Amino acid sequence: MNLWELLLLLLLNNLLSIVTLGAPEQLNILFILTDDIGWSDIGFHRSTVIETPHLDELARTGLTLNNYYVQPVCTPTRSAFLSGKYPIRQGLQHHVILPGAPYGLDLKEYLLTEYLKKDAPTPYETHLIGKWHLGYFDIRYTPTYRYFDSFYGFYMDMQDYYTHERHHYYKGIDFRNGTLPVTSFKKQYSTFVYGNATKRLLRSYARKSQQNPFFIFLAYQAVHMPNQVRILNFYYYYYYY
Ligand SMILES: *[C@@H]1O[C@H](CO)[C@@H](O)[C@H](O)[C@H]1NC(C)=O
Ligand SMILES: *[C@@H]1O[C@H](CO)[C@@H](O)[C@H](O)[C@H]1NC(C)=O
Repeated sequence: MNLWELLLLLLLNNLLSIVTLGAPEQLNILFILTDDIGWSDIGFHRSTVIETPHLDELARTGLTLNNYYVQPVCTPTRSAFLSGKYPIRQGLQHHVILPGAPYGLDLKEYLLTEYLKKDAPTPYETHLIGKWHLGYFDIRYTPTYRYFDSFYGFYMDMQDYYTHERHHYYKGIDFRNGTLPVTSFKKQYSTFVYGNATKRLLRSYARKSQQNPFFIFLAYQAVHMPNQVRILNFYYYYYYY
């Protein structure tokens, strides 16, 4: 269930070494969000069950922020991250945006992506790979209308990791490149789809000689539960909520 999300802000010492930096004062940013991972479900928080050698290495060679708190579920935590405000400021504090719900992160908010594009001396190029979950009922609420240059991922809350389909209430593929549905990634595990897409992007930046700095928001589907069986679904929407 949705208990805690852990945001990992990783100033990627390691990955940046393969990328040519933009203007010296403007670092490239790769922000990795893991969805619903528990505090102690990670090696560097002494998990004895789950092994996370790569994340541990990033933590070991970087900085870990142990008093950094996030919201407990998807929509509020993402709105806080992108807007810099408590979710109650946008009426997003209650729960997640359920599929088909006619609202999203308020269009009046000046988002992190907008700052990075308009206020940085050299505008950032901005990319979202993975989960959005901040509304899609109107196209203006979707990532590429919110100062993301590209979006590759899904709009809603949960789905099958391989088929990228949601199974109940709102059924069907929820997987997009920009605003267009993509079906070519059926039978491919989303962690690898998003990881590979990020690697391709990083390599393309490494090849460019002149470039703007980048902000990549890599919002993995993992470790969030996939589609639920009916009984869990019942609890989720009527009991848990
Ligand atoms: C998404 O679409 C753009 C524009 O058509 C294309 O250049 C890009 O390769 C596509 N991305 C992926 C990951 O398929
Ligand atoms: C990701 O890249 C690896 C290495 O190139 C490849 O073996 C794998 O099939 C790719 N998976 C997906 C889902 O793109």
